Amino acid sequence: MTAPEQRATQELASLAALFDSPAMAEPYGEEISIRDHMLQCAELAVARRLDDAVVASALLHDIGWALGETAHEHASADLLEPLFGPRIAEPIRQHVAAKRYLVGTRPEYHALLSEASRHTLARQGGPMSATECAAFAAAPASAAALELRSLDDAGKNLHGATTGFPDYAPLLRRLMIAHLSGA
Ligand SMILES: [Fe+2]
Ligand SMILES: [Fe+2]
Repeated sequence: MTAPEQRATQELASLAALFDSPAMAEPYGEEISIRDHMLQCAELAVARRLDDAVVASALLHDIGWALGETAHEHASADLLEPLFGPRIAEPIRQHVAAKRYLVGTRPEYHALLSEASRHTLARQGGPMSATECAAFAAAPASAAALELRSLDDAGKNLHGATTGFPDYAPLLRRLMIAHLSGA
């Protein structure tokens, strides 16, 4: 096994353990667990035929809830960036900003948010100002963050998830090895 392959095996096992941890069974105010929510987001990304990188971002975007102190989007992105690179980590870092941007630019979006998401909005800074919206729109990851946000908002169905972490392990492993090999 090459060094990136070995590292990917270890890191994947750590991610799987985190994904299975009790914190991921919590609903964080939503009607379903954060684990099922992330699985649903990944299932939607597959159903929409989005890139593997988007599937990975969707699957792992809220994993930072298990990590404690910092805002969960940063905790998730900081964990994932060294493993997968910015293509996967940056939309995750921006997924809360994407919500604030959408509320700032499309007032009707607020009503589409889940109750929990509406609740956390104030704590997250509320709708973006016009200046903040312009800066967000100009950032390189904004389109990917908005795409992730669309999955995030849709992946809150009460039916639970039909897939599990192991279903995505080969995809994650492939992406991780590509990044760790400098591809
Ligand atoms: Fe989130
Ligand atoms: Fe989410």
